[in-house]
Amino acid sequence: MISRVMDLKRGKKVLIAPSILSADQLALGEEIRSLGGEADWIHVDVMDGHFVPNLSFGTAAVHAIRDAFEDIFLDVHLMVEPAEAFIGMFAEARPDILTVQAEAAKHIHRALQMIRDAGVRPGVSINPGTPVSILEPVLHMVDLILVMTVNPGFGAQRFLPETLTKIKSLVRSRAANSFDFLIETDGGVNSETAKELVLSGCDVLVAGSAIFGHGDPAEAAREIRNASAGGLNINDAPRSH
Ligand code: DX5
Ligand code: ZN
Repeated sequence: MISRVMDLKRGKKVLIAPSILSADQLALGEEIRSLGGEADWIHVDVMDGHFVPNLSFGTAAVHAIRDAFEDIFLDVHLMVEPAEAFIGMFAEARPDILTVQAEAAKHIHRALQMIRDAGVRPGVSINPGTPVSILEPVLHMVDLILVMTVNPGFGAQRFLPETLTKIKSLVRSRAANSFDFLIETDGGVNSETAKELVLSGCDVLVAGSAIFGHGDPAEAAREIRNASAGGLNINDAPRSH
């Protein structure tokens, strides 16, 4: 029985999910180990060269990570189209969460149901140009909502601050409807942007270049966690205005 996603935070102010897109591709195992206990999740950015203008990991990489790190929390982000065509093959690699792009599924409700039926927590992601409103029909059925804070395809891009309003709107909607999803952001996350993201209500921070482009990935993850925690005292509710 997979745990309720809100339980995954277990009282933590924020979860840190390093993206291995920016890790040394010749040493992924060592890079993951170099995080020590500072990473909560490992974020795998899968790109098909069609939905986004870049090509990255396949199922073999996800299987290899799962085989090498049995207990790691694997957060797989599919930037592929049609999303439905890839769900079965990636679910077989036993990720903990499988996130599809709302823009890449002809039938997003069915795609999310396919992920749940495969025994994996479903996540849905929206690009900067996609309104939160299109998620309304599926908010009740996801464990994770990924708000892209850059246009997907590459690491080390500039954070788009206009995406903050989407996070606040999702916080309001979750509270008003007692939905049970975590809010994740991906793109341009670092110790400068982390504070505002957590203040806006983000639960999970994906960071690639800020962590693996740093000399010490564990220290980089700690810096981001501390910076974000500085934004949110234990009694603060995330801003939704
Ligand atoms: C899509 C990818 C990137 C990556 C994060 O472009 O999803 O957003 O994970 O890249 P950084 O943290 O380097 O901006
Ligand atoms: Zn991602």
